[in-house]
Amino acid sequence: MNWRDYWNQDTPIYASERHKLLHYRLVASDIIGLIPSGEAVVLDYGCGEALFADRIAAKCARLYLSDAAPLVRDRLRERFGSNDRITVLGPDEVSGLPDGSLDLIVVNSLLQYLSRDELRSLLKLWRAKLRGSGQLVIADVIPPDVSPLKDARALLSFAWQGGFLGSAVLGLIRTAFSDYRKLRETIGLSQYSEKEKVEILQDAGFSAERAERNLGHNPARMTFVGRPA
Ligand SMILES: C[S@@+](CC[C@H](N)C(=O)[O-])C[C@H]1O[C@@H](n2cnc3c(N)ncnc32)[C@H](O)[C@@H]1O
Repeated sequence: MNWRDYWNQDTPIYASERHKLLHYRLVASDIIGLIPSGEAVVLDYGCGEALFADRIAAKCARLYLSDAAPLVRDRLRERFGSNDRITVLGPDEVSGLPDGSLDLIVVNSLLQYLSRDELRSLLKLWRAKLRGSGQLVIADVIPPDVSPLKDARALLSFAWQGGFLGSAVLGLIRTAFSDYRKLRETIGLSQYSEKEKVEILQDAGFSAERAERNLGHNPARMTFVGRPA
């Protein structure tokens, strides 16, 4: 099994339905905060189930949701098929979008599952699809010093605030015995220092900087903003 196969199934990553809802609600409100105007065309790449995509779509002209997992795309089409501002795309279909047509591309919590070569080729694609005034926001990037323990602490703090602490503890135990932990040990997760991440973005034709805060619940992870240079 690889990371792509892993995500094409129901995973134990979310401790409960409440965890999943609060996670996607927070991510959606963070994405809404990045939308430059009601006319904007937005791509959420590696979007997962994007449970609140309708809220994001209400704040822009068009929202493209793209995910590699066919199961995830089927669920997105089921949930948002009747929303005429939302289009669900496979990763290959993103290359069919007109060049220079996107105002905002958000990539949240995906990089850790990509090799550096995969990232470089995606950066080329995203750079081509962004308007000159557009922004690429890559979030939830894991720095080299963030261990599974730090991730667990961030989850427990989110769970405490969100009222799902009990299920979060059980979820962490489940994860410890799951394919996720096995894959994390065998294939590993890609981790980047701030310096390396900025350099990779610059090499791909972006001016880049780290944002003050990360999207989502984990402040130990990093968000980067790239603009076509
Ligand atoms: C951790 S989830 C993140 C989902 C969502 N962005 C969020 O913030 O919760 C990673 C998602 O990336 C998708 N994915 C993995 N590899 C991908 C790739 N190469 N291209 C597009 N999506 C990919 C997976 O199917 C999964 O839904």
